[in-house]
Amino acid sequence: MSVKQALVESEGRMETTDGEPFLLTPGPLTTSRRVKEAMLRDWGSWDRDFNEVTADIRRRLVTMCGGDEDYQCVPMQGSGTFSVEAMLANFLPRDGRTLVLMNGTYGQRAARTLDYLGRDYVVLDKGDYLPPKADEVDDILSRNPAITDVFAVHCETSSGILNPLKDISDAVHKRERRLIVDAMSSFGAIPLDVADVPFEAMVSSANKCIEGVPGFGFVIAKTSALENSKGRSHSLSLDVYDQWSYMNRTEQWRFTPPTHTVVAFREALLQHEAEGGVPGRLARYSRNRDVLVDGMRAMGFRTLLNDEWLSPIIVTFFSPADPRFEFKRFYDEIKARGFIIYPGKLTKAESFRIGCIGYIDEFVMRDLHEAIRNSLAAMGVTDCRPAIG
Ligand SMILES: Cc1ncc(COP(=O)(O)O)c(C=O)c1O
Repeated sequence: MSVKQALVESEGRMETTDGEPFLLTPGPLTTSRRVKEAMLRDWGSWDRDFNEVTADIRRRLVTMCGGDEDYQCVPMQGSGTFSVEAMLANFLPRDGRTLVLMNGTYGQRAARTLDYLGRDYVVLDKGDYLPPKADEVDDILSRNPAITDVFAVHCETSSGILNPLKDISDAVHKRERRLIVDAMSSFGAIPLDVADVPFEAMVSSANKCIEGVPGFGFVIAKTSALENSKGRSHSLSLDVYDQWSYMNRTEQWRFTPPTHTVVAFREALLQHEAEGGVPGRLARYSRNRDVLVDGMRAMGFRTLLNDEWLSPIIVTFFSPADPRFEFKRFYDEIKARGFIIYPGKLTKAESFRIGCIGYIDEFVMRDLHEAIRNSLAAMGVTDCRPAIG
């Protein structure tokens, strides 16, 4: 049964499902009815029932990355960027130097954040879509003894590239440096296990592959790294150590928690588990990607990345060179047919992106193909080949 059918059946009303567009955007994304319904109750932020939900979420997230022995989870209010900034501020020593691995917006944003924080860093910038390679990391670390830490993005959502994190981690640890990871758009669907990638700290957020709604992010960090981070934060609200120690003492968040988001997230975690955890989610998203890409290629579209680098998170397609193609019109036509997509983020070529994550399945992707075919016909676009290549 398709997710769409499941939605329809559970709601018993076709028009409700059809009236709400599918978000083919990598967070916020389409969530299940069960997740939405979890928000229909109000919770006291100091109440024991709510505190138990928070504690449960923290435990489940640590288990998801195999970190039960030595890792702890600290949820942080705000969007994902707040948690990235909190991680950078708390886990990079003030007198350290960080190698930032950059191949898109989120590596660039990390570097910008380090500018705000006044932390020293160097960059390996691979442009819009090439992956940072382990031998390049090894080379830089061997020539720069002052580098203490390495920052990597797991899935660079601006292009959709899945960076070779395990190889990067091996290179970093061979040179006895520390690794911190932005796994915002990948955690929960792409395996990230501390046995393979023993990161100091990583971040993700509620509204990505675990399929919750926006409102908080979370840091998972080595207990030893958390202990060492005391007093490092430049900011009270982003102080991970303070949030961690307060939560451990009181079981509460320091400041008003996004209560509805938190309980919805617990529901999302239960659904994640019922689907088979990370392998189950990876299988559905991979199928979404394969069906999406096959259908788009059959129409003449081209992907930015070779198959080797295509993530099951989001796919970048070049815009057609056909002069009748205009992204804004394309977006509106598709939206009118029930789907919301993303503009591209490349610096050099016109492109758009389609997410594979959220409460959607291959049948939704097939419906999308039809919507795209009809949208192109309405625009008079007959040739989907891009200008480049
Ligand atoms: C890899 C990555 N890092 C950071 C962020 C920033 O998260 P937010 O937009 O929730 O602040 C995103 C958002 O999509 C992301 O994909």
